[in-house]
Amino acid sequence: MLIHSATQLLTLAGGPQRGAALGDLGLIEDGAVVIQEDQIVAVGKTGELESLYPREPKLDVSGRVVLPGFVDAHTHLVWAGDRAGEFEQRLVGKSYLEIQAAGGGILSTVRATRSASTEALVSQTLARAQTMFAFGTTTAEAKTGYGLDTPTELRLLAALLEVSARGPLEIEPTFLGAHAVPPEFAGDPQGYTDLVCTEMLPAARNWWEANAPSLRLPFADVFCEAGAFDLAQSRQILETARGLGFPLKIHADEFEALGGAQLAAELGAFSADHLAVTPPEEIAALAASETVAVALPCTPFGLASPRYTPARAFIEAGGLLAIASDINPGTGWCESMQFVIALACRFLRLTPAQAVAAATINAAAAIGRSGEIGSLEPGKQADLIILSAGDYRHLGYRFGTNLVQAVIKNGQFHLSRENL
Ligand code: NIG
Ligand code: FE
Repeated sequence: MLIHSATQLLTLAGGPQRGAALGDLGLIEDGAVVIQEDQIVAVGKTGELESLYPREPKLDVSGRVVLPGFVDAHTHLVWAGDRAGEFEQRLVGKSYLEIQAAGGGILSTVRATRSASTEALVSQTLARAQTMFAFGTTTAEAKTGYGLDTPTELRLLAALLEVSARGPLEIEPTFLGAHAVPPEFAGDPQGYTDLVCTEMLPAARNWWEANAPSLRLPFADVFCEAGAFDLAQSRQILETARGLGFPLKIHADEFEALGGAQLAAELGAFSADHLAVTPPEEIAALAASETVAVALPCTPFGLASPRYTPARAFIEAGGLLAIASDINPGTGWCESMQFVIALACRFLRLTPAQAVAAATINAAAAIGRSGEIGSLEPGKQADLIILSAGDYRHLGYRFGTNLVQAVIKNGQFHLSRENL
């Protein structure tokens, strides 16, 4: 198929965008893209591709923007229940960490998740995945972490594989057994850390090799935070995971700076995420590394906190920045990367172009997929979205609405093709 006459075609070509290079959209006016099967085969000007591909079926998208599907590089997609009551408690003065210390927070979702059947988890997760897709996310990372015991964490991996198989949203799973200290280990984070290392990570790897042998191992992640896992425990977990072959991620500096950003850079993690209170020396260390910084502006927004990632400082230091939703039932239940972009423009002070690059090619780098997704280039997966607007800056400028009119995943059309 030849999709042609796009008012703006954003290719994001040329690989992940570091530092001052962030925001190079590779914009082609009157642009076109040729898709065959599940791949992009050509990108260019409409006139040029019409003469090179005269026999392709055509689709006119004049008045619209075409860009790569969004990549949501940090989600806690699989859970049961909700925490609407805690949202209300926070509004009348309780803090997130206070609610967590009193047995609510993540642990309340753990109770609901442990008692849900795998089928119920799949159906609740699938509903969110389909909403994300409708808002333009074509690939998402998704973490376990609401099981916190070996059997439930393995069920969450299974649920994520099932949701990805049902599609159309493609999922890159992450094992986050170290998301919180479960009630069985209350007051003994070291005991649980040892369990994660000696039992859970090896079990996750064995399960994966038995159930998904053709897929790369999931990421391993840890919540390095006051009230969760300290720096030494985070190191123990990530080093054990690395020894077992897992690629790494870390939750660092969401509430307190414990040194997680530096640890991520040292261990060669794919990403360090949150970074709301990261000190300047660690920003510099992270920016100098290959680790992608993933800012999650829905989290402070969801908590009504003023502490957003110092994204501009990170860009000025030459780092690789991505943005993601962090969708979860506690701090921010938001399926829309368009809303993430709107927040990033206002609170991280990114331009719309920078935010789009951070939500596509750099987000793909944060999940180790920048070779296949995140840009429109020959040979890449045909994952793209068509907006109802003709100026990409409507992303960021407008919020709380859905500008995505059609989504193409692996070359297949979804949503509203008829309206184009
Ligand atoms: O990324 N930081 C840890 N995890 C989530 C919150 C999870 C929850 O509250 O359920 C986060 O913000
Ligand atoms: Fe998170």
